[in-house]
Amino acid sequence: MIHAADIDKAVERLANTKFLLVLTGAGISHESGIPTFRGNDGLWQNYRAEELATPWAFERDPVTVWKWYDWRRGIIGKAEPNPGHHAIKELEDIFENFLLITQNVDGLHGRTGVTRMVEIHGNLWRVRCVREGKTSMLMEVPLSSIPPRCECGEMLRPDVVWFGESLPTQALEQAFKALEMCDTLMVVGTSGVVYPVASFPETVKSNGGFVIEINTEATPISNIADVSLYGKSGDILPALVNALGV
Ligand code: OAD
Repeated sequence: MIHAADIDKAVERLANTKFLLVLTGAGISHESGIPTFRGNDGLWQNYRAEELATPWAFERDPVTVWKWYDWRRGIIGKAEPNPGHHAIKELEDIFENFLLITQNVDGLHGRTGVTRMVEIHGNLWRVRCVREGKTSMLMEVPLSSIPPRCECGEMLRPDVVWFGESLPTQALEQAFKALEMCDTLMVVGTSGVVYPVASFPETVKSNGGFVIEINTEATPISNIADVSLYGKSGDILPALVNALGV
């Protein structure tokens, strides 16, 4: 249940914010029908991350890994951005200084037209040649051949960050710069357990910034957030944008 006083506190802060940084996780896409990773109906309840989302799994069994991605691409391909995604695009339009960092690989934020965005875990519609490292978009769903191949004949892999891999340097640099510059961080729909992203709220706090959390339940971030708004991001984000009344 959301307290009106918490909404007021968040709106007041946003109205006085000079640089808004928004950080999203799988929760924001849940209302679009895309499963999250953790929790009762999360993907990691039924699938083992180490068999599907690591470079070693791909080396050992690329077909199984690609079948899982093909299945997820099928779900995501039918999904539409929800009011939460659209509200974040409105926030981008309101704030002169703004950045969205998303851990999501579903590409739904991009479909709202938001441009100041870092997809810090990659994008599952982009593929990368395992030999040449060249990236391209591959929109075919379902894939006609698994694993898909590059023109050079070598396998393509999803251009996402797997467990045990480093985050893309350029994305990290952009994120660290924004963490330095922002005065408010809004964290939406993430369990806050996967590093380095999980450390971002702490970084903003130690720089003197303000943290607003939006989640259906309490997370480790709730302990340091200045205000936690509990409920669906598809309800709360449009309400905040509305209350900002710009
Ligand atoms: P998780 O599945 O860990 O967490 C989803 C969060 O969203 C939970 O805290 C839920 O309570 C919350 N939630 C669910 N529905 C919501 C809604 N409608 N509105 C608001 N909140 C909602 O997903 P992430 O935190 O994104 O990484 O996971 C982080 C990373 O772990 C992912 O990027 C992925 C995963 O393994 C890799 O694959 C490298």
